[in-house]
Amino acid sequence: MKTLLVTGGAGFIGSNFVRMALSEHAGRRVVVLDGLTYAGNLENLEGLQELYPERYRFVRADVTDAQALASLFAEEAVEEVVHFAAESHVDRSILGPMAFVKTNVMGTATLLEAARQAWGDGRGRYLQVSTDEVYGALGDAGAFTEETPLDPSSPYSASKAGADHLVLAYHRTYGMHTLITRCCNNYGPYQFPEKLIPFMIARMVSGDTLPVYGRGENVRDWIHVDDHNRGVFLALEKSGPGQVYNLGARCELRNIDLVRALIREVAAQTGRDPVELERRLAFVQDRPGHDWRYAIDPSKAVRELGFRPRVAFEEGLGSTVAWYLAHEGWWRRIVSGEYLEYVRKQYGA
Ligand code: NAD
Ligand code: TYD
Repeated sequence: MKTLLVTGGAGFIGSNFVRMALSEHAGRRVVVLDGLTYAGNLENLEGLQELYPERYRFVRADVTDAQALASLFAEEAVEEVVHFAAESHVDRSILGPMAFVKTNVMGTATLLEAARQAWGDGRGRYLQVSTDEVYGALGDAGAFTEETPLDPSSPYSASKAGADHLVLAYHRTYGMHTLITRCCNNYGPYQFPEKLIPFMIARMVSGDTLPVYGRGENVRDWIHVDDHNRGVFLALEKSGPGQVYNLGARCELRNIDLVRALIREVAAQTGRDPVELERRLAFVQDRPGHDWRYAIDPSKAVRELGFRPRVAFEEGLGSTVAWYLAHEGWWRRIVSGEYLEYVRKQYGA
């Protein structure tokens, strides 16, 4: 049985990945390493220890802690690493960039070095989970390919770009089997309610205003988290070393159109009045350096990995809204805590 180390497994994408790995990839033991920052939540992994006592282990550690990583690699015969752990929210990176440099750049460097020390002459595969945001902003036309030069705008995307360069340098310099996937905006269950979709659903349910940055005309490209994670597995299993794969589902939407689709969905599923929800839209001050448009060209992953997104957007959005409505306790526990302080800083009273 292979041992797969998943960092950031208590976060949004990581916890969905861990469940997929345990339920669909029986030949793997999954060791989750997570520092449990504000975004990490053990509730996201509830029940896994009981369901998979032999194949699942959770370790609380920071990815910048070289000693903790060395001990873990000494205890476990890790053959694969999928690195999700990161500070992941653009607005937070504008308010406080240093945590992003520490976790995203230093954390990646520390993890790569721990893997290199443990693997020596080339055993093991390392996959870096990256983002389309490293390519910067697009105008109204075109899409990012793997050849698009990196041109990040925010401290978040700049720190992810720095990490990507380290990952490729470890392949070129040490011959390690490292690779990168760069995905567009994810949505689905367990997403922290600071990101657009869960943030808006929670505010619709709570009776709050719906703050849309600028005129709501910025465009994001959306993919269901399960499709992203299937792409990560394909790359882990099929990719050669030193490769980069863009992952996306060709689903571009203006923010305002997405928020209106959410209004319709929440109204339909809860019986709320869509006109009253629409009245709560508030066009607020734009994000500094707000990237205009993202669009991913996933043709290389389609061609070389057989990547095929399965979840149609309307279906995925409907099931996501249903999940947040059914898990109100989950997001209310988050919204009532430390998160409030952040919301006050970001949005004012
Ligand atoms: P998230 O913020 O929901 O979760 C991040 C997880 O990392 C949390 O469990 C947190 O506790 C952990 N973590 C943070 N700092 C840590 C540290 N120093 N040591 C150990 N653990 C730490 O993030 P997410 O949305 O699930 O994103 C996961 C990864 O996917 C990130 O690398 C992100 O850049 C990338 N990504 C996200 C999206 C998206 O739309 N959310 C799109 C493309 C790529
Ligand atoms: P977000 O979910 O933060 O993802 P990212 O910035 O990584 O793309 O934001 C998605 C889009 O929604 C982005 O263009 C900013 C916008 N947005 C709002 O208009 N209002 C909000 O309250 C938030 C959180 C985001």
